[in-house]
Amino acid sequence: MHLTIRQLMVFEAVARNNSFTRAAEELHLTQPAVSMQIKQIEETIGLPLFEHIGKKIFLTEAGREMYHYSRSITQTLSEIEAVMEELKGIKRGRLNIAVASTANYFATHLLASYFKHHENIHYSLDVTNREGLLRHLELNDVDLVIMGQPPEELDVVAESFMENPLVVIAPAAHELCGQKNIPIESLNRETFIMRERGSGTRIAIERFFSEHGIEISTGMEMSSNEAIKQAVGAGLGLGIVSVHTLALELEAGFLEVLDIDKFPITRNWYVVHRKGKRLSPVSEGFRRFVLEQAPSIMKPL
Ligand code: PGA
Repeated sequence: MHLTIRQLMVFEAVARNNSFTRAAEELHLTQPAVSMQIKQIEETIGLPLFEHIGKKIFLTEAGREMYHYSRSITQTLSEIEAVMEELKGIKRGRLNIAVASTANYFATHLLASYFKHHENIHYSLDVTNREGLLRHLELNDVDLVIMGQPPEELDVVAESFMENPLVVIAPAAHELCGQKNIPIESLNRETFIMRERGSGTRIAIERFFSEHGIEISTGMEMSSNEAIKQAVGAGLGLGIVSVHTLALELEAGFLEVLDIDKFPITRNWYVVHRKGKRLSPVSEGFRRFVLEQAPSIMKPL
């Protein structure tokens, strides 16, 4: 049997993304080129690797075995790359990070200021919700993750670097605006625009209200902080978001933070990676940069 590393990488990308199209995008190939590679592997090994049912693809038993081995090969390859980078020093290299959609408001500032001093570094940034971040950690396919709550079910190194307070926002004309120490019970009557399932912010809000015995009514669900702020501004309900998402709207007087008793919900931001992962000098440099610089780059409101 003669398989090339390239073929294994293509297979690994299709299996991990569960999609020929997404794998082709990731590898900068056309979809027919990816299908051709998979066909060649299947011919070489004499077994099908995928089943096509309707529009979906599923790994066959041979595919699952192949995925197991191709993952460990691609991980070893990226370790080789990291070790070689280490030998070259921090001057060049690649940084793959994934950040919570809520963290993106400051993560891009952090990246911009890191790259001012490290011009030859290429990076990829995936912005997704907590569920997406957990998947990245499980697959071990990024160097670092910035998230609001490290997972308990995975063996990770998680370091907290900045507070992440969650506050209640209302449109500027709301009757509660301007009131002091509003009792938390008054939220019982309010409708909230909530983030989608899978969002870390949403999990924290639900836990907080259940701890305080408050039953809010959930209005619409929206999958981004931007959409929530717009909906709150339009008077569709109240919202709870991280203060890091808010600077512009508060400055413009479009939204206000309500002074509710027991708020803000206190949380922290963490920079996380899988335990035992060998970080390249570039990733290690960025990790240290985040721990040292993030609080000063993000001025409190
Ligand atoms: P999210 O943020 O709500 O965008 O998933 C992650 C988190 O705060 O844990």
